[in-house]
Amino acid sequence: MKRETTRITPEQIAAQMDYCMKVHAMNAALGRTPLAMVDTYGCQQNEADSERLRGYLSEMGYGFTDDEHAADLVLVNTCAIREHAEQRVLGNVGALTHTKRANPNQIICLCGCMAQEPHVAQKIKASYRQVDVLFGPHALWRFPELLWRFRATGKRVFENTDEAGSIAEGIPVVRQGTVKAWVSIMYGCNNFCTYCIVPYVRGRERSRRPEVVLEEIRGLVEEGYKDITLLGQNVNSYGKDLEEGVNFAQLLKKAAGIPGDFLLRFMTSHPKDASQELFDVMAASEKIAPCFHLPFQAGSDRVLRAMNRVYDRAGYLDKVRRLRETVPGVVITSDVIVGFPGETQAEFEETMSLIEEVRFDALFTFIYSPRVGTPAAGMPDPMPREEKLKNFQRLVERQDQISEEKHAAYIGKTVRCLVDGRDEKGLTARTGGNRLVHLEGEDAFIGRFVPVRITGSNKWSLFGELA
Ligand code: SAH
Ligand code: SF4
Ligand code: F3S
Repeated sequence: MKRETTRITPEQIAAQMDYCMKVHAMNAALGRTPLAMVDTYGCQQNEADSERLRGYLSEMGYGFTDDEHAADLVLVNTCAIREHAEQRVLGNVGALTHTKRANPNQIICLCGCMAQEPHVAQKIKASYRQVDVLFGPHALWRFPELLWRFRATGKRVFENTDEAGSIAEGIPVVRQGTVKAWVSIMYGCNNFCTYCIVPYVRGRERSRRPEVVLEEIRGLVEEGYKDITLLGQNVNSYGKDLEEGVNFAQLLKKAAGIPGDFLLRFMTSHPKDASQELFDVMAASEKIAPCFHLPFQAGSDRVLRAMNRVYDRAGYLDKVRRLRETVPGVVITSDVIVGFPGETQAEFEETMSLIEEVRFDALFTFIYSPRVGTPAAGMPDPMPREEKLKNFQRLVERQDQISEEKHAAYIGKTVRCLVDGRDEKGLTARTGGNRLVHLEGEDAFIGRFVPVRITGSNKWSLFGELA
């Protein structure tokens, strides 16, 4: 199969905008604004994709709702990373039979990573008759055409052919927030970690051109966004597929050179590509948040090899050491998998000792979940689930203590925070290192950087007052 990136042309996007107009005309016949509900699962990539889907929907004349009963169209943007994520989606799509029974004209669309998996698409076709349109991430840019086709013919539309992947610029975007924004800088993944489904459903790595990325960031800063996260499954391999010869560190440096008061974040970094050049760029700019999400996945070299992670424990620890040396006070977070097939108790203990050595600020912990079609799904997996669960509990408890201790160390300090919203406890803010801070104050502070004196903490967050 051809494994090259397709660049979608402006004419192709213009043709999609024409389909938007056609659907818009169909909607106008309703005599009221039809409502769409976009339900997003999974990672920030999916959040960013949903913002583009909302952009298209808005062009088609849809308003938005969070109530599936009121929705004329429900679009479920799914995640395939673990069994649990898939079960949740299937449960919720199953429940939509009721809303559709009450409103037979309701249109149900399913997209995202699950939709790209052939066995899922088959299952939806056969057993989830309420789903009218299904498309994978590769077909996202053609959503208007697919929806129009369903509305014009009444026949179910399934679009999930495998491909290397494409890059489409110029899709309209309706963003969810006014303070924080996502910018996808690349799509797909080439790493094929043996447990992971992402390369199969998102295609190969492909980078957006640096000038369009920088233009988008400039636009966001002008609109008043203060916290901008550059997204990719492996941002550090940005640019490898481009002729421009711009790597991630250089892109980040250019982005930090954009005038304005804002913070840049990025995720996710693969340890193999997290370079000293990148650490130096971070250290040199106040606009780059001093935080680094660096998944280690396992503490044992044998398990790392079986996972195809291509670094070893010593190499990982060395990166962390150099990062801390170069960017003092950097907040480091990570992902880890417990119970990879064949991981022994002794090997799990190496994961425990790694978290002691590094003392992450926060850790995202997952129990291994077999994914159809990945190499690890075929590996012998003798450890009983109860033992994996026990290990998982132990890891979570120990990390909670570490996070709590790390948070307690903030007490008495005054830190610059960005106030980003409000929840039931009051204003919410984020430190440069992305630690959550609760404080009291007026809504007028939302979107502003303010000094906050930290007065309390727990394992999840900090508490403070305006200083
Ligand atoms: N591209 C990112 C991760 C994306 S997935 C990276 O490489 O760091 C987010 C996390 O989900 C991964 O870091 C991994 O810890 C976890 N994960 C992925 N596949 C999994 C599986 N099959 N079972 C359990 N956890 C998994
Ligand atoms: Fe999955 Fe590995 Fe790619 Fe991350 S780097 S998306 S874990 S294959
Ligand atoms: Fe899930 Fe796809 Fe993201 S599988 S984690 S939504 S890339």
